[in-house]
Amino acid sequence: MAHLPVKIAPSILAADFTRLGEHISEAIVGGADWLHVDVMDGRFVPNISFGVMIPQAIRPLADAANVPLDVHLMIEEPDRYLTQFAGAGAARLTVHAEATRHLHRTVQAIKELGVKAGVALNPATSLTAVEEILPDVDLVLVMTVNPGFGGQQYIPQSTDKVRRLRQLLTQRRSNAWLQVDGGISAKNAAEVAVAGATSLVAGSAVFGGEKPVAENIAEIKNHVRTAFSI
Ligand code: DX5
Ligand code: ZN
Repeated sequence: MAHLPVKIAPSILAADFTRLGEHISEAIVGGADWLHVDVMDGRFVPNISFGVMIPQAIRPLADAANVPLDVHLMIEEPDRYLTQFAGAGAARLTVHAEATRHLHRTVQAIKELGVKAGVALNPATSLTAVEEILPDVDLVLVMTVNPGFGGQQYIPQSTDKVRRLRQLLTQRRSNAWLQVDGGISAKNAAEVAVAGATSLVAGSAVFGGEKPVAENIAEIKNHVRTAFSI
């Protein structure tokens, strides 16, 4: 089977925390390419999720399967916690452009820890917020909902933003991942992939509902495959 042009990153925020390890194993066996870890501080976003203990706890599962931990920091002044999360096994640390005053410095600090650096943009934040540091980043995350909660509706204008970011990355000859996060499901996976996303985060579409996790992941992948005729 031809190589899928996008990586699927299930967000563990939507997993069943009474059996987190089991749910994560199901995702890994079911074809999760990355594991997305949503850290929320109750300040940058209204919700508090968890701290470093969760990536620490799931790291052995991820390492054993060679599945990278993709850590999304929805926290104010993320510089304060970079060392901790890098130490907890994050392969990539994504910070919000809106949460740090000196984004360039934050990105350099992540890279100095030997970790890939990502920058996330809220729905109302223009692509210009990341333009100047594109050569330094490994990933740009386009939030397709307002961050803070799982299970929200995809904001339709996001598709155009993804398209414009894809053009920008192409112009700048950047190989950075283009990640989308929020309200992604089998219904819109093909749309965002065709628009240029290369990494799809999905929480409730993977871990919610009645169907097995593996089936949910396969469904998302199949929609992308069909769109690319592969
Ligand atoms: C939202 C988080 C997302 C969220 C996605 O603030 O960054 O990663 O868990 O969940 P769904 O896929 O349910 O929208
Ligand atoms: Zn996220």
